[in-house]
Amino acid sequence: MRQELLSLLEEKTGAVASVAGWLWQRGWAERNAGNISVRLDKGKQLSSHDQSKTPALALPKRFSTLAGSLLLVTGTNTRMRDVADLPRENILLIRINDEGDGYHILPRAEMTRLRPTSELATHLCIHEMLAAKRPDHSVVMHTHVTELIALTQIKDLCDEEKLNRTLLGMHPETSVFIPAGVGFVPYSLPGTIAIGEATVKALENHAVALWEKHGVFATGPEPEETFDMIDLLAKSASIWFLCRSAGYDPEGLSVSQLDGLTKLKF
Ligand code: 13P
Ligand code: ZN
Repeated sequence: MRQELLSLLEEKTGAVASVAGWLWQRGWAERNAGNISVRLDKGKQLSSHDQSKTPALALPKRFSTLAGSLLLVTGTNTRMRDVADLPRENILLIRINDEGDGYHILPRAEMTRLRPTSELATHLCIHEMLAAKRPDHSVVMHTHVTELIALTQIKDLCDEEKLNRTLLGMHPETSVFIPAGVGFVPYSLPGTIAIGEATVKALENHAVALWEKHGVFATGPEPEETFDMIDLLAKSASIWFLCRSAGYDPEGLSVSQLDGLTKLKF
């Protein structure tokens, strides 16, 4: 049992590290920007970890659905390029306590005084929703995609319908793989339960939420697929800006072109 859990941890830690490197290479992870978490549902059954005797670190609200869950989370103030190079020193394993209102940091060999991301509240709000409604999605990823953030600096596009018409119209694959588009989250203070709850609302019908003037939060079954969703959206936003900087208003795919794509199967 224990060996199975260790292999699962190794596998997921490696997958997070690879994607962290891609986020850095794409220029979406300046300084400590971005954070990633993976819910280990299997680990919940495999873990023989009893409730620790030491007091739990408090969570800002009770996450009943996540009680007993194990999660891998990147540390606060860690660089994605360091997560890629030294994953075991920059990713923590935490266990939500049996009451759901606190967590313990589980010791791993290389563990230092690392603490979970400052966006833990949002990650847990999203995981709680996923565990109940989309259990195959165990990954939550936050990153600062320059082109997508730039779109939300344009007041006219801070409207879910207009934003999605723009993004889905820029490339057929965006509309094929992300037919529901993104959920829009108006600006709110990061690190709070308020923005966590607003993000959950935006993600109930979308795999990606766009935080106004800040970045994206995406969910997926594995780190790689989650990255792909963000990458597709970044491509669409880049095409829009390229056309605009060449002095054109991009035409976008027409309604009938978009309709045609709904019949495609991959
Ligand atoms: P952390 O370093 O605490 O993960 O914060 C990065 C970030 O992007 C905050 O929104
Ligand atoms: Zn951020």
